[in-house]
Amino acid sequence: KSSPVTIAVTGAAGNIGYAILFRLAAGELLGPDVQVRLNLLDIPDAAQALEGVAMELADCAFPLLESVNTFSDPVRAFDGVNCAFLIGARPRTAGMERADLLSANGEIFAPQGRALADGAADDLRVVVVGNPANTNALIAAHHGRGIPRERFTALTRLDHNRALAQLAQATETGVGEIEGVAIWGNHSASQYPSLEFATVAGVPALEVLKARGKDHSWVEDEFIPRVAQRGAEIIRVRGGSSVGSAAHAAIEHMRDWMSDEPVETSMAVPSTGAYGVEEGLVCSFPVICEGGEYRIREGLELGEFSKARLRASVEELKAERDTVLSLGLLA
Ligand code: NAI
Repeated sequence: KSSPVTIAVTGAAGNIGYAILFRLAAGELLGPDVQVRLNLLDIPDAAQALEGVAMELADCAFPLLESVNTFSDPVRAFDGVNCAFLIGARPRTAGMERADLLSANGEIFAPQGRALADGAADDLRVVVVGNPANTNALIAAHHGRGIPRERFTALTRLDHNRALAQLAQATETGVGEIEGVAIWGNHSASQYPSLEFATVAGVPALEVLKARGKDHSWVEDEFIPRVAQRGAEIIRVRGGSSVGSAAHAAIEHMRDWMSDEPVETSMAVPSTGAYGVEEGLVCSFPVICEGGEYRIREGLELGEFSKARLRASVEELKAERDTVLSLGLLA
């Protein structure tokens, strides 16, 4: 038997926390042979609710769950952690400016980055779910001194899965037939879900769509906004934000990152300068995960439309970065 893996979940008393913890404890991330230690972090105000979640986890008597511990101090929660799901964040409230939002979140993600640097395990992997996810990951990575930057990623897998689902529906195929879909840029309304290199059962998706009367204007006016604004649509229809699908995407993001076999997906990762995206910005790219690592899929010849969409989203990432820089959050 391999040694237990310590998984930290922040915002563990929240909605996504509640949707992810039972699946992690059931072994969905690491498989049936790996014992799991869960470190649950939330703010002091949520301590009692957090305790209740821990009680329910105990009540499941999960064979793979070695321990559950609850914390309000990130330094203690991140001690020895191998996988960190940073879900807790400060939501935008009425009248809050973007700079206020970035500032409030910087005050969460800077100390969390430092706490990870203090005590996390050498093989640490971080996925930031809490919004604004890309810039929160940038802040955590900056303060996680000594931890390789590429270990800090942000979640765009939900956007990726939404794009897969929309394309499958539009082409009346199964998601298993689709390859090459990618999310580029920021996890925000400016994101660029790209079909440029996608295939459906081996045929270019754009051709398959065209044969069904769906041309570029369908991609631009229906597909892209549908994917980019799906979160708002879910809120409207369900009466609450995406929770189950977000938790699922976060598990898949981490699981694929650890995969030995090659998997193609999308992740927001510190840019290596690929596709002209300024180095260090946490930007979504198509990636290939293999051997426990990911690499940005390089060498795709982006057309003018794709380049312009990517550039626009990267401009937003730069503006967020410049704001947190001016707030002193990257000092
Ligand atoms: P929620 O409001 O139900 O839960 C958030 C939890 O985080 C609360 O329990 C809160 O007390 C906790 N929290 C706040 N500050 C904290 C801190 N400093 N340390 C630890 N915990 C802290 O929200 P929900 O639905 O669980 O969503 C969480 C985040 O995920 C939000 O920021 C949301 O916008 C984001 N999200 C991101 C998605 C993505 O695809 N990247 C998809 C869906 C949601």
